[in-house]
Amino acid sequence: GRVAVLMGGTSAEREVSLDSGSAVLEALRARGVDAFAVDGIPALIEQIRAGGVDRVFNILHGNKGGGEDGVLQGLLEALGVPYTGSDVLGSALSMDKIRTKQVWLASGLPTPRYVRLAPGSDVHAAARELGLPVFIKPSSEGSSVGVSRVLDDADLDGAVELAARYPGEMLMEQLVVGDELSVPVLASRDGHVALPSTRIVPKGEWYDYHAKYIADDTQYLCPGYEGADEDEIRQLALAAFIAAGCRGWGRVDILRDRASGQFHLLEINTAPGMTSHSLMPKAARQVGIEFEELCWRVLESSLP
Ligand code: DAL
Ligand code: MG
Repeated sequence: GRVAVLMGGTSAEREVSLDSGSAVLEALRARGVDAFAVDGIPALIEQIRAGGVDRVFNILHGNKGGGEDGVLQGLLEALGVPYTGSDVLGSALSMDKIRTKQVWLASGLPTPRYVRLAPGSDVHAAARELGLPVFIKPSSEGSSVGVSRVLDDADLDGAVELAARYPGEMLMEQLVVGDELSVPVLASRDGHVALPSTRIVPKGEWYDYHAKYIADDTQYLCPGYEGADEDEIRQLALAAFIAAGCRGWGRVDILRDRASGQFHLLEINTAPGMTSHSLMPKAARQVGIEFEELCWRVLESSLP
């Protein structure tokens, strides 16, 4: 059947999604799939109404109807069109960092301490409660868009202003000093499995948008650890993915406290980046799953 590779859209991660999408499109075509590009949800609806879509490979990144937050998933459920990735619940929950943390905490899974910043809340008091340094983040963005790392009380207000430019709520999160890691999860014949972790060593202070997509001096170590540490982080990622009700594929971002060695869960990306800079394709390659094969497996996991 015909596979729509859904990319682009209107979120702050549009450019990243177009990069991911063209890579996925090319890979699926190379595997003989009758795949074509669709830019954004309105165009997809037109294509579905015209009867030209048997399945959707969703590589939209982002929130508020941007394709990663459950809205698209609900639409496709209602229309009976199979799609890749998490369903309504897993997508909506994972797009919301605050509620994801609440589910993890209720499941006994570790995540950095945080405060939800409601409009008008006292950010300086929140910073005293958590202790600087902190991150200020929009709760529902990706690719570090709108995120600030705040070391100094004087920079709090500017960070809040920046995060407030993006839709939805925001949070302040304790900054765990240590390694930045990411672990992909992929559907397999025996349920979901965690792929090797990647340890990220950005040239700058942290793994921001620039380090993710623009800089060529970010270092990636894959697998991130050896032995028991690697086993532990993979088990944690898989538990986090399952607790959030995710399905098919995803990537779990994690920090490791340098002082205590403890892992802390940050968030799940339910439509992980598939650009030439992205982490999931690198980790898959480490276990012999080349990019085309990865795209094929993700597509297969969408079978109803
Ligand atoms: N949100 C971006 C695309 C990622 O996590 O890969
Ligand atoms: Mg993200």
